[in-house]
Amino acid sequence: MYENQKIAVVIPAAGSGSRMGTKEVKTFLKLKGRDLIEWTLAPFLESGWIDQIIIVGRKQEEERFESLLAQIRSQGIERGATYPQMKFIPGGPNRLVSVYNGLGQLNEDIAYVMIHDGARPLVSIEVIERSLQDTLKHNASVICVPVKDTIKVANDEQFVDYTPDRSRLFLIQTPQSFERNLLLRAYEQAMLEGLTATDDSALVEAFGHPVKLTLGSYNNFKVTTPEDLLLAERLLEDLI
Ligand code: CTP
Ligand code: MG
Repeated sequence: MYENQKIAVVIPAAGSGSRMGTKEVKTFLKLKGRDLIEWTLAPFLESGWIDQIIIVGRKQEEERFESLLAQIRSQGIERGATYPQMKFIPGGPNRLVSVYNGLGQLNEDIAYVMIHDGARPLVSIEVIERSLQDTLKHNASVICVPVKDTIKVANDEQFVDYTPDRSRLFLIQTPQSFERNLLLRAYEQAMLEGLTATDDSALVEAFGHPVKLTLGSYNNFKVTTPEDLLLAERLLEDLI
C-alpha cells in the first residue's frame, strides 16, 4: 500500500541471457552468494509499499522460481515482515509478451503497476520511491539517467548522419510505472496492432499519453554481459 493505493510489480525474468553466454540462466547466476533475482526483489520486499509481485520466468525454470518464492515467504515469516503476495507465471518469446502475460495476473484492486527488469539487481528503494511519486502525479513514469557520452545517429553507410543535442538524451532503465488501466489499454492496443518495442513506455507513448522522465541511478544498470556481473558484484560489496 502506497498513499492508499495498491501497487503491483511485474518482473520480466524470462529471457535466456544469450549475451551473458553462461550455461546457467542469468536470473539464477550468483552475486555475493545470492541468486541475481533475489537482489532484484529485495528492495521491493523491504519497501513495504508493494501489494503484489508477479515474476515472469521461463516455464522450464518454474520449480526453481517456486522454491525461491517459498524460501522468501518463509524468511518473511521468520522476520515478522509482511511480504506482498508473490506468484510465478511463464513468459513468452519476447519481453513484451512476457510482461503482457504478467499483466494478466494483476489483482482486481491494483491501482498502479511497476515493471522492473529481473536483470537489474541494483535498483534502490530511493529510485522505486521516485518512480511511484511521479506515477501518482503523472500516471506514467520511466526511470532514466542523462547520457554521459555524445551520441551519433548513423546513416545506412555507417557514416554519421547527425549528432543530437546531448542535453535532451537519456538512457532508459526500469522501473517503468503506470496507472493500471492506462498500461493495460496501451498493451492491448500494441498487441492488436502487432507493435514491437524494447520497453513498456514506448507502448504508452504510442497510445498518446505523456510519460514523465524520472531520475534514476547509474548503478541501476541491466546485467547483460559478463563484465556487468563483475561490476554488479563490486557495487553490491560496497553498497550493502
Ligand atoms: N525477458 C523476458 N522475456 C523474454 C525476454 C526477456 O521476461 N522473452 C526479460 C529478461 O529476463 C530481462 C529483461 O526482460 O530481465 C530485459 O531483457 P535482457 O536484458 O535482454 O535479458 P535477456 O533477454 O535474458 O538477455 P539476452 O537479450 O542477452 O538474451
Ligand atoms: Mg533480450
